[in-house]
Amino acid sequence: MTRSPLPSDGPVPAIPPPPTGHLAGLTCGLADPVGVDEPSPRLSWPALLDRPSLVSVRSAVGEVWRQEVPEGANHVDVPADVLALLTAYTWTVGEQISGTFTTGLRADGAWDAPWLVGDPTAAVSLRCTFTPGDAAEVWLAVTALGVYRVLLNGHRLGDEELAPGWTDYTVRVRYRLFDLTQLLLPGANELEIWLAPGWYAGHVAASGPARYGDRPLASAQIRTDGNPLPLDWTLHPLGRPRADLVMGETIDALETRDTDSRPAARDTHEQPAVPETRVVGGLVVEADPAPPVRVIGVVRPVRVTEPVPGVQVLDLGRNVVGRLRLRVTGPAHLVVRHGEELTAAGRLYTDNLRTAEQRDEFHVGPGDHVVEPAFTVHGFRYAEITGWPGALQPSDAEAVLLSSALEVTGELTADDPAVRQLIANITASAEGNLVSIPTDCPQRDERAGWTADISVFGSTLSFLRHSQAFLSGWVTTLIDGQRGDGAVPHVAPVLPEYGYDSPVWSDALVEVPWLLWRRYGDDRTLRRAYDPMRRWVDYCLAGAPDGIRQGRALGDWLAPGTVETPKSLIATGALARSLRLVAQAADVLGEPHAEEYGEAAARVVEAFRKAFMDGHRLRVETQTGYAVALAWDLVPLSDRDAVAGALAGLVVADGHRLMTGFVGTPLLLPVLSDTGHHDLACRIFNQEGYPSWRYQLRAGATTLWERWDSWHHRNGLQTPSMNSFNHYAYGCVGDWLFRHVAGIGDDPRGVSGGFTELLLRPGPVPLMRSASARYASAAGVVESGWRAEPDGLQFTFTVPVGVSARAIMPVGGTWDGMTVNGGFLMGFGEDLPVTRLPDGSCSLHLPPGRWSFTAPAAAATPLLAPWDDL
Ligand code: BGC
Repeated sequence: MTRSPLPSDGPVPAIPPPPTGHLAGLTCGLADPVGVDEPSPRLSWPALLDRPSLVSVRSAVGEVWRQEVPEGANHVDVPADVLALLTAYTWTVGEQISGTFTTGLRADGAWDAPWLVGDPTAAVSLRCTFTPGDAAEVWLAVTALGVYRVLLNGHRLGDEELAPGWTDYTVRVRYRLFDLTQLLLPGANELEIWLAPGWYAGHVAASGPARYGDRPLASAQIRTDGNPLPLDWTLHPLGRPRADLVMGETIDALETRDTDSRPAARDTHEQPAVPETRVVGGLVVEADPAPPVRVIGVVRPVRVTEPVPGVQVLDLGRNVVGRLRLRVTGPAHLVVRHGEELTAAGRLYTDNLRTAEQRDEFHVGPGDHVVEPAFTVHGFRYAEITGWPGALQPSDAEAVLLSSALEVTGELTADDPAVRQLIANITASAEGNLVSIPTDCPQRDERAGWTADISVFGSTLSFLRHSQAFLSGWVTTLIDGQRGDGAVPHVAPVLPEYGYDSPVWSDALVEVPWLLWRRYGDDRTLRRAYDPMRRWVDYCLAGAPDGIRQGRALGDWLAPGTVETPKSLIATGALARSLRLVAQAADVLGEPHAEEYGEAAARVVEAFRKAFMDGHRLRVETQTGYAVALAWDLVPLSDRDAVAGALAGLVVADGHRLMTGFVGTPLLLPVLSDTGHHDLACRIFNQEGYPSWRYQLRAGATTLWERWDSWHHRNGLQTPSMNSFNHYAYGCVGDWLFRHVAGIGDDPRGVSGGFTELLLRPGPVPLMRSASARYASAAGVVESGWRAEPDGLQFTFTVPVGVSARAIMPVGGTWDGMTVNGGFLMGFGEDLPVTRLPDGSCSLHLPPGRWSFTAPAAAATPLLAPWDDL
């Protein structure tokens, strides 16, 4: 395999353009959704109101509801009884911000359209002709147990890919709603559904095809002025005899020139569509509460090589998730295989894909064709093509990127190109692993909704992207998979063979709803998850009569080093953490169990100390063990400094290298920065040797690796049975960059949700000269950053209206000479009271507004000087 080192100061590949959209006003977390089944939709806007304002909701017939909302609010819930089904509404807040939403069928369990059978391996076309007459409103609701596209009179409706996404199909599936009224032709119209096996009947993870059923099913209903229209369906081939998410797709384009139009000559193969006779009973069919998967960008190849005659290899220059669109002049039979790496001989490396073929085939007739699969998705940087007529040019191909289209909310930049590349890599891994559900990886035969992965990455993701609707939808899927006894699966949608019950993994059922509350003030997801959360911690407590939870399988997954963090330490610590969060959730929701879970947490913490601590040291000393003890507040306050000192000593002894896996990595740097050892956190972060983030960057990584040694300069590639080059879990360092380097965070001492209590604490990093971040939070736009100038160290902040903010600037006691917005800080006196912290930092409460502080140059010297022993 080949690796190209990152140039030290060359240009950094651009971050792909953000998906389009806006956050002006959100309904249930989405911009202008069509199909809302939530009986009492939540309308929200992107800042806290600076005065009481009127919210008004109108339909075509006029205003249906109005309410004055108080100053400081950023959302309101529309009462259920004022809304009708299948109706479009617009809404305004104080006449400034508006959004639209359309109510759905509210079909919960009552979907009565027939389910039509597709093919076990091919994509097929289901068609019907209908005449809506003079109906004033015509609605289409469509879904599939499989994946589908829908067309009206030959034109695709919407731009959703891989609809309806992956849920636990034994429990629920999601439908999409379309308003056909303005799109219909006079007289007869034709509706068409392209249906492929998808997650329902195709390959899922490593368990082969037909996971939920042996053939996909599609179902659609048309409502004319509210009444269901009887539909008579026929079934046709689609020229796509093989269409599998994991294995790939085959297109016979002999008779067509465009991948988006259907092969007319195949009409001769028409047969009546077969309805499913087995009851798809009890299945909840609900409007999709999450953003759809869409094409979010296009990447053009940077080079083509020909390692052996007739085998041409495209290199996209970066690892992506999606598929290739090819412009080819036929006749030709192309075989295209996709992979993340090359062998030493320049051939495609596919061992780490395990059984995932990622192989597309195109049979094209004479003439010019554009071919692109519709029902598969690949994780790849390279594509190996055989059968191309002549010399393949980079301009003959482009990669089409697929992702659940989440709004961009956060940006972070620094003068250090490696930091910018790291953020680009984190973003790329996030996008590639958010295809309908949050996955571990997008390429091998796994691609599952691994719980710990999103649990540790969720906070970073929620800085970069508006994740509320997406993660809230996934929490429903996680709850759907919870076992009757309270055990929580390791992946959601649940795949029982991947197991249940691991600490940290299963604790995602507590962590993710809590994150949504803290970040977005989403008390609805928290409420929905509350009883399942209790059932989970009750289940854990039942297995820990003496307060110690025995270690389960996964531990500090993929940690390097030779000393293993005891699994029971992690399990017991995670139980204490979850119990405390459940107690806090009880407080937030006004439930009566806060005391009960608070006391249970105290008992577990006591047991933790007895079992795993000896004075202020751990009995088994590992970075992860200390990070767990400190981050989850398991040590007495009076011992905190001493325990943090022990961790610091261990980090130094480990040569400033992290020794942490999935559990310890998200905690280590924040804990060091929080306990007065920010310099050590920076040293770990600035580490360029193995294991480190910069080691990956130096090796040319364009997405985050699954393992610190996915590739190692001495050992080469890790074992192919588990080696992904696109895993976002270690992208959790983005959270540290936002909070502890640029300085944007919610105050850990705060109790409120929705990012309304801020802790702005920029943390300069030696060897860097500047870092800053911007975050469109649920409470308004927050900014924080620092810059080393010749005459001093500058800190800048933006605090939104209505938000309380504490700023801490590490100025090493030089704060007497500090200026703020051009005047001396001291001159502000009681208007801007300042507290000097024991370490010389300057702490103050910042009122809303934009602030620029400058500390004398002397402040920068100790913060930014290179380390003596470098
Ligand atoms: C996945 C991980 C996951 C782990 C736990 C792996 O196969 O890719 O990211 O968390 O299994 O066992």
